[in-house]
Amino acid sequence: MPEAPEPRSGVGDFYDRINDAMAEAMGGFLHGGYWRGADDPSSVEEAGVRLTDFVSDRLRLTPGDRVLDVGSGNGKATVHIARRHGVNVTGITLSSHQARQATELAEDSGLAGSVEFTVHDMLELSFPDASFDAAYAIETVCHAQDRTDVFSGLARVLRPGGLVTVTDFLLVRPLESEDHRSLVEGAMKNYQQGPMLTRSEYEECVRAAGLEVVEFLDIGEFVRPSYRIVGGALARSGEALRKLVTEEEFQYMVNDLGRFGDITELGYAVVTARRPEAPAAKGRS
Ligand SMILES: C[S@@+](CC[C@H](N)C(=O)[O-])C[C@H]1O[C@@H](n2cnc3c(N)ncnc32)[C@H](O)[C@@H]1O
Repeated sequence: MPEAPEPRSGVGDFYDRINDAMAEAMGGFLHGGYWRGADDPSSVEEAGVRLTDFVSDRLRLTPGDRVLDVGSGNGKATVHIARRHGVNVTGITLSSHQARQATELAEDSGLAGSVEFTVHDMLELSFPDASFDAAYAIETVCHAQDRTDVFSGLARVLRPGGLVTVTDFLLVRPLESEDHRSLVEGAMKNYQQGPMLTRSEYEECVRAAGLEVVEFLDIGEFVRPSYRIVGGALARSGEALRKLVTEEEFQYMVNDLGRFGDITELGYAVVTARRPEAPAAKGRS
């Protein structure tokens, strides 16, 4: 049996190791897809593009906007959004492997002038105040133990009136069985995620950071088929995957991830929030 890597040392290290195998299984993306129904014949990549478009369509982007991609992965979604909307995007990730790969992708796509990537922690954003017109985070905020910390940073770097859209897991109702509880705990442990929140808990995190909730959607039924497809693809990658991850991570990805879609108590939130406009200056009386 190949030697298992040392236990993970953090999220960046995890994505350094797992990026390529996950992207292979997920049509080049590091997020699930949007499936129109059980008989949707789309490829995993097409479903991934559809989910990416679903997110960027919420941001009312106009060409030239400055956009922050929080947790930009390998940059595939970033480059797609930059090209589709004609915007300038800064992508941040904790994985240096992803930042390198994403930079190469931007260069190869002829977008090096408008898309850049950097290793940068979403919990310690060092961009100046109001430096972005919009921001988005696809399946990233789940890695924070307290989502309010992420939203607080975003509230500062967004311009007044700027929008942010995030996708995240959502607890629609209490987990019904020991099996489901153990699958969710496995996801939190193996993917180093924070707790899964209910809609009201989520909205509270957004508001506590000083943002206004503009829209809260649950598209769980459209994303759910992704888990079986991705779990199957990871299982087929077998020994190649085993070389990249710890034995515990391997067992989870191969045996459990595919069953995640059975947990109908979980949804998939697409939350759009706005930094309030600055109050109008009072005129002299
Ligand atoms: C599931 S991947 C999603 C990648 C990309 N958004 C996509 O949809 O293809 C999660 C991403 O979040 C990033 N991430 C997790 N915690 C982070 C943090 N504290 N700061 C910045 N990026 C983070 C990871 O490095 C990874 O790129």
